[in-house]
Amino acid sequence: MMKTLLFNPSSIVTVNTSGKNFKRGKELSDIGCLYDHSIVVEDDLIKDMLPTASVDKNKFEKIIDITGKTVLPGLVECHTHTAFAGSRADEFRQKLSGVGYEEIAKKGGGINTTVQAVRSSSFEDLVNITKPRVEHFISQGITTLEIKSGYGLNFDSERKLLQVINYLNEIYPIEIVPTFLGAHTFPPEFKNDHRGYVDEIINKMIPHIAEQKLAEFCDGFCESTAFSATEIDEIFAAAIKNGLKLKLHTEQFNAIGGLDVALKHKSVSVDHLEVIKDEDIPKLGKSDTVAVLLPGVSFFLNHTYAPARKLIEQNAIVALATDFNPGSSHISSLSLIMSLAALKMKMTIEETISAVTINAAKALFREKTIGSIEIGKKAEFAVFNTSDYADIVYSIGSNLNCMTIKDGIIIYQN
Ligand code: NIG
Ligand code: FE
Repeated sequence: MMKTLLFNPSSIVTVNTSGKNFKRGKELSDIGCLYDHSIVVEDDLIKDMLPTASVDKNKFEKIIDITGKTVLPGLVECHTHTAFAGSRADEFRQKLSGVGYEEIAKKGGGINTTVQAVRSSSFEDLVNITKPRVEHFISQGITTLEIKSGYGLNFDSERKLLQVINYLNEIYPIEIVPTFLGAHTFPPEFKNDHRGYVDEIINKMIPHIAEQKLAEFCDGFCESTAFSATEIDEIFAAAIKNGLKLKLHTEQFNAIGGLDVALKHKSVSVDHLEVIKDEDIPKLGKSDTVAVLLPGVSFFLNHTYAPARKLIEQNAIVALATDFNPGSSHISSLSLIMSLAALKMKMTIEETISAVTINAAKALFREKTIGSIEIGKKAEFAVFNTSDYADIVYSIGSNLNCMTIKDGIIIYQN
């Protein structure tokens, strides 16, 4: 057995949940800060937190000296589209001159621009394009990273993207969670045959992906330019039948019934919610489905922000993510997202921390093993070069992470 000591941090932001493993409503403000303590790790698990003055350093095979630093649970990035090819800088230019995101999509651009680029890229190309992006996430203290497919939109290319994501999970020390997003939009060849594409997803893609264990989650985009609530309902029923867990992009531009379908199927998360109706907010307060908010999208598209305060006041389990993608949030900094959540959605610094740790872990169905520094959980940590956790959110656009630890081992240091 390997005994490791994380010695003498200035503070440990435990995000303690007393074993509950998520935070809803007011609980998000309580991040359980511990001072003058060190963390005892045995192999890949957290064994104890002891007053630093009482620790006998000789009892440890490895000492990681983090004097003066702030340690958080390994950060969890629970919503990204990191595996994509090509660039949408041209569309960004159009957007800057006033053309809307949905307008671009309706003209055949948007997601389908990236689909073209992905279809014409090989497995190796996609791996090589995606690697530095994954490394950038690791350098921010992220130890669990979700990546969606959704830019293949046919059997072969969706499978190729999921194989890329699974391969990246094998070669990197962090955990990469693959999500199947075949229901991202309708590809050009099915523009006038929505029924045909839904059947393709249900009868071909989902059974194969589930059988080959290429994805853990099935996601969709319920929107007037993408899938209707009825189509998502059918796709979700097939996903459940095949043992996949659920997530849904919903109420981003229009509320067309996605939220109710997702809640009916006990989706693990509902993501976006920029235009959720006031009367629907209590539904999330009563449910175990995580509300994943993506303020980077609102910032990038100059669009409405999700009502974070109302969601928290009405007891929802709120998480935050970058939604890193080429079209609606070309933003890969999770701490920038925390800053936007604070400045634009009026979340407190403490709430943003709960939202990228334990609640993001719950959005990936991993809250029992990661997301907080509690005895028995995985020894995954993000160490920040500051004695005050507020600096993480205050230093807008900077990366204060100086060490990422996974399974008790340093995997990144700066
Ligand atoms: O999460 N909402 C739909 N999908 C992505 C955008 C993907 C893209 O534009 O490439 C999102 O915002
Ligand atoms: Fe997304």
